[in-house]
Amino acid sequence: MSKNTTKAKTIAPASGKLGILTPGIGAVASTFIAGVLAARSQGAAPIGSVSQMAHVRLGSKEENRNPKINEFVPLATLDDLVFGGWDPVSANALDAARTAGVLEDKDLAPISSELEGVVAMDAVFDNKWVTRLEGTRVKKETSKWAQAEALIADIASFGEENGCDRMVMVWCGSTEAYQEASDVHMTLAAFEEGLKNDDDNISPSQIYAYASIQAGVPFANGAPNLSVDLPCMQELADARNVPIAGKDFKTGQTLMKTLIAPGLKARMLGLRGWFSTNILGNRDGEVLDAPENFKTKESSKLGVIDTILQPETYPDLYGNIDHVVRINYYPPRGDNKEGWDAIDIFGWMGYPMQMKIDFLCRDSILAAPIVLDLALFLDLAARAGESGIQEWLSFYFKAPQEANNNPEHDIFIQQTKLKNTLREWMGEQPVTHSEAG
Ligand SMILES: NC(=O)c1ccc[n+]([C@@H]2O[C@H](COP(=O)([O-])OP(=O)(O)OC[C@H]3O[C@@H](n4cnc5c(N)ncnc54)[C@H](O)[C@@H]3O)[C@@H](O)[C@H]2O)c1
Repeated sequence: MSKNTTKAKTIAPASGKLGILTPGIGAVASTFIAGVLAARSQGAAPIGSVSQMAHVRLGSKEENRNPKINEFVPLATLDDLVFGGWDPVSANALDAARTAGVLEDKDLAPISSELEGVVAMDAVFDNKWVTRLEGTRVKKETSKWAQAEALIADIASFGEENGCDRMVMVWCGSTEAYQEASDVHMTLAAFEEGLKNDDDNISPSQIYAYASIQAGVPFANGAPNLSVDLPCMQELADARNVPIAGKDFKTGQTLMKTLIAPGLKARMLGLRGWFSTNILGNRDGEVLDAPENFKTKESSKLGVIDTILQPETYPDLYGNIDHVVRINYYPPRGDNKEGWDAIDIFGWMGYPMQMKIDFLCRDSILAAPIVLDLALFLDLAARAGESGIQEWLSFYFKAPQEANNNPEHDIFIQQTKLKNTLREWMGEQPVTHSEAG
């Protein structure tokens, strides 16, 4: 064995079809599905997808081994994907894409019948958790246990009807009202009891997460609500041998924060304050306009800076930071969010400086490739025999789930961890950049 190889993991081949199920067929899910359909029918480049576009260096630099990730690890191909999901409002992915207004008619036209074919299944929905939406396509089952059983039956019939070899689930539903974990979430037994007793603390996204893991389907959570970030779900994931990941796709303003904050810290520049405000006019913005739903988002966005800057280690630089995050619902912008950051930094002899960022971003355009990567990587993890929280996927999340509750937010460390995990699974040495050359 050369010095560049270790023992590779046994990974089952990615044969057959992979079903990608999204609870929530709104802006993000429809943009994701449309992009995959466009990539496979028209050869459009899947821009922003690390699994499809990034290369990974193997061995020392002189070896010149630098394959694309999807040529290095055995991932499902775009041609092997089939799509499904649930939504209480959208009828199908075409309807969702038109409502979202992210993609232009010229891009939807060539794939419209395929999008229309992704018909939303009736959702497990409770207006109490998302007050701004009225659900009409909702399951008739009212007990939470029966709803979980109905979802498990949906998963099984979707898999059968579409000839799926494997499935994964990615929560792309609305952000639910703020909630802290309670007794019912502490153990699997308590949660199952809670489902049977219709415990008020169990939200719809938790019922999807439970059903998914019970059915042996890996689950990723793209929103900041707890869903799979609960001890009971981790217990179930370990027991059922199912990989899970969360939470809250890292896009837009938080993506910028995790790019800039490590740079300031690398140069030992101080930070006094970071004021972030957004205007957003899509359905997500409307849901987040409700204070209890915004609170869920706020707590996921606020954690980022502290963990990157380590104020306890660098009190002179980062011991006194005002960090404020605001989101305002402003319909004229639709999905084209505008985010402003006013960043107050200081340097040599404490002299203050300011940075201003005006990011005219398209939320769903940034989120769609994350859905693809998470689905493909979770499926890989399952075939590699992994279970429980997949910390190497922290790269994709604003509030990464970690077993020891000490998440890494620095995107460059997260990227290294992601690539080194793939190297190790394939029997290659991790790259530490410490060797000569
Ligand atoms: N776009 C981004 O950059 C980004 C980044 C991070 C997180 N997110 C999160 O991703 C999620 C989706 O964002 P979006 O822009 O597509 O929002 P959206 O409002 O367009 O879509 C969400 C969909 O979820 C549906 N839904 C609500 N409750 C449901 C339930 N119980 N079961 C099934 N479906 C349900 C809604 O009807 C809606 O169609 C949101 O929670 C958002 O906060 C988005």
